[in-house]
Amino acid sequence: MVKFASLFLSPLLVLVVSILCITCIKFCAGATSTYNVLSFGAKPNGVKDSTQAFLDAWAAACGAVDAARIYIPKGRYLLRPLAFNGPCKSPHITFRIDGTLVAPLDYRVLGTADNWLDFQGVSGVDIVGGALDARGSALWACKASATNSCPGGATTLSITYSSNIKVIGLLSLNSQMFHIVVNHCQNVEMRGVKVMAAGDSPNTDGIHVQQSQNVAIFNSSIRTGDDCVSIGPGTQNLWIERMACGPGHGISIGSLAKDLEEDGVKNVTVKQVAFTNTQNGLRIKSWARPSSGFVQGVQFLNVVMQNVQNPIIIDQNYCPHNINCPGRVSGVKISDVVYRGIKGTSATVVAMKFDCSPRNPCKGIRLEDVNLTYKNQEAKSSCSNANGKSVGKVLPDSCLLK
Ligand SMILES: *[C@@H]1O[C@H](CO)[C@@H](O)[C@H](O)[C@H]1NC(C)=O
Ligand SMILES: *[C@@H]1O[C@H](CO)[C@@H](O)[C@H](O)[C@H]1NC(C)=O
Ligand SMILES: *[C@@H]1O[C@H](CO)[C@@H](O)[C@H](O)[C@H]1NC(C)=O
Repeated sequence: MVKFASLFLSPLLVLVVSILCITCIKFCAGATSTYNVLSFGAKPNGVKDSTQAFLDAWAAACGAVDAARIYIPKGRYLLRPLAFNGPCKSPHITFRIDGTLVAPLDYRVLGTADNWLDFQGVSGVDIVGGALDARGSALWACKASATNSCPGGATTLSITYSSNIKVIGLLSLNSQMFHIVVNHCQNVEMRGVKVMAAGDSPNTDGIHVQQSQNVAIFNSSIRTGDDCVSIGPGTQNLWIERMACGPGHGISIGSLAKDLEEDGVKNVTVKQVAFTNTQNGLRIKSWARPSSGFVQGVQFLNVVMQNVQNPIIIDQNYCPHNINCPGRVSGVKISDVVYRGIKGTSATVVAMKFDCSPRNPCKGIRLEDVNLTYKNQEAKSSCSNANGKSVGKVLPDSCLLK
């Protein structure tokens, strides 16, 4: 009898459980709660401080059981420095911005903080749309007046110790210092990000990446006063594709060798980038100091230079004011760097410069299909301690040692 009952019950149980599961997949797991910052007291008038409302919306989304969406409708929201900390209970948070987040007029409010918007220790966060207006020009003016009493300035968007992050269609305006920093992160994708700041604004790097793996930057446009992208120690598997850079200082690996013990930079791809009126194009830069750092496996592909001062440059002799550079020798080892399909105009006669470390000469540099001109004349190349080869047409002529 017991046997008969269990035989009969088990198909029924299976049926009930399946119905419950299907219902749940439809109605439970798919549920995304939306947290509109207005219902937390944010005011879209650019005047009232909305910091607490944003923090409360974050706390609610972060604590949600399911996927959550923070919604910021059109309008201007005044925000002081604020941290969006993880870990979160919610497996996925979309930060959807239709408005503009603005910094306080008094530059000291952000200026004395390290970061304005600070995502830390989060996983599965998408930041979509919107504009961040840090109103940095007042701080730049303070710094330019050299009174010595200016605060250091804040990074506009800092993402640290996080993973599975997307930043899509974001505009960052007039940052006090760096616009976007990715530090100690894994799996970060940026798409359609736009950075705009004055060409003479100090230390306003567009995107800075360090100590991070699997970062990809697609379809972005960066006009700023410092590096469009700066790549620091510990960067691995970085992909940059389709970028317009300029004004700015170009895409730079480095400065490296700031520290004696330093992680290397490995596997960087930069393709389809246009540099316009920039100080540098493709740069690798290290201090002339001892260091355990290295740069290994870099591909620069299909790049157009327009009036760029240093289109291709490796500079291992960086030592401003000649302080703290014993022997002026860099410990950073640079190897396997490919330049393929690099075209356009140099603003100076030396279009290609490889100034490598005398103790650790550059190895495995490869030039392929390069054509850089200077005022319709032939440009020049300059090498020290640089080994590698050139393949196909390369103008100016390669000076690499075979
Ligand atoms: C970048 O833009 C191109 C052209 O508009 C588009 O085909 C491509 O899908 C975009 N890539 C990404 C990752 O958004
Ligand atoms: C290099 O990085 C890219 C992503 O940027 C990745 O697809 C590729 O597998 C990496 N190559 C190696 C050898 O790790
Ligand atoms: C290099 O580029 C210049 C300017 O675009 C062009 O006139 C010249 O033919 C090119 N040279 C080669 C070898 O492709």
